[in-house]
Amino acid sequence: MLDIPELHVTSLEDALSRVDSVVETFLSKGILKLKGHRFTRTEQLLFTRKLGDILGWNINSESVPDNFNPEILERWAFEAGHSDNPAVENSDEDSYLLGWHIEQVFYIDQFLAGIWNMDHIGYDNRKAGRTLFADSIDIYKNLPNEDKDFLEKSVVIWDKPIGPNTGFGPFFTKATDVHPNTGDNVIRLETDTGVLIPVELYQFDGREPSEEESETFIRILSELREKLDKDLSIRYEQQWEEGDLLIVDLFRMYHALTGGFKLGERKFYATFARPKEYTHDLWNSMELL
Ligand SMILES: [Fe+2]
Repeated sequence: MLDIPELHVTSLEDALSRVDSVVETFLSKGILKLKGHRFTRTEQLLFTRKLGDILGWNINSESVPDNFNPEILERWAFEAGHSDNPAVENSDEDSYLLGWHIEQVFYIDQFLAGIWNMDHIGYDNRKAGRTLFADSIDIYKNLPNEDKDFLEKSVVIWDKPIGPNTGFGPFFTKATDVHPNTGDNVIRLETDTGVLIPVELYQFDGREPSEEESETFIRILSELREKLDKDLSIRYEQQWEEGDLLIVDLFRMYHALTGGFKLGERKFYATFARPKEYTHDLWNSMELL
């Protein structure tokens, strides 16, 4: 298991004074945790806008002015926690409440970061509700060269999901992308079985894939799932404590959540950052690639 980098801070001012080292760790590791100071929601947003000024996010000094109004706070530091999911009642600490996935592959301007501020935990089991992470940049780097080449030539189709969300999709995305800050290659295959959107190889090297190529894609995807599920050497594990402020690069970090807590038993405030200029457009046509 890998340790999530931690920075001890005593106040918002202290955190702001060390923002350069926060940015450096964010860029090199994709995840870090601030501990020692309980950020209010307002402070959470003020710290995020500082990061946004440096990293080119939509949350920045222009969009979040000094003395911002309550609507801005509600919009960008909102209450979250998967605790509204009734399935948590039947989950346990070792099962996934939310399976491994990379965020928002269907959005052209997708989330670049999540800043999650744990406000309240109403249960004692520290193993419950862990958030697990794995770095897609590292996973890509450690692939055999032939699999890297294969994925770089692959366009996948996310088919319409089974269930209530009819009319959603299909989407066409590249299997890999280039990280906007680091320039590294990132695997962008969502693998959350809970999302129920089947993915398959749509184009290989600009043409229809052969049967063999489609099977190679299935093999790489299943190896990726296996790695995320079993390989502890690439895994970060966040056992939450009240007051933890987690800063996660959602472009590169796969994540999953374990169960074992009940509806409403915990509460955190979530801030999600997108690129400075963004739309809500989706990858819903091949022409966009
Ligand atoms: Fe997620």
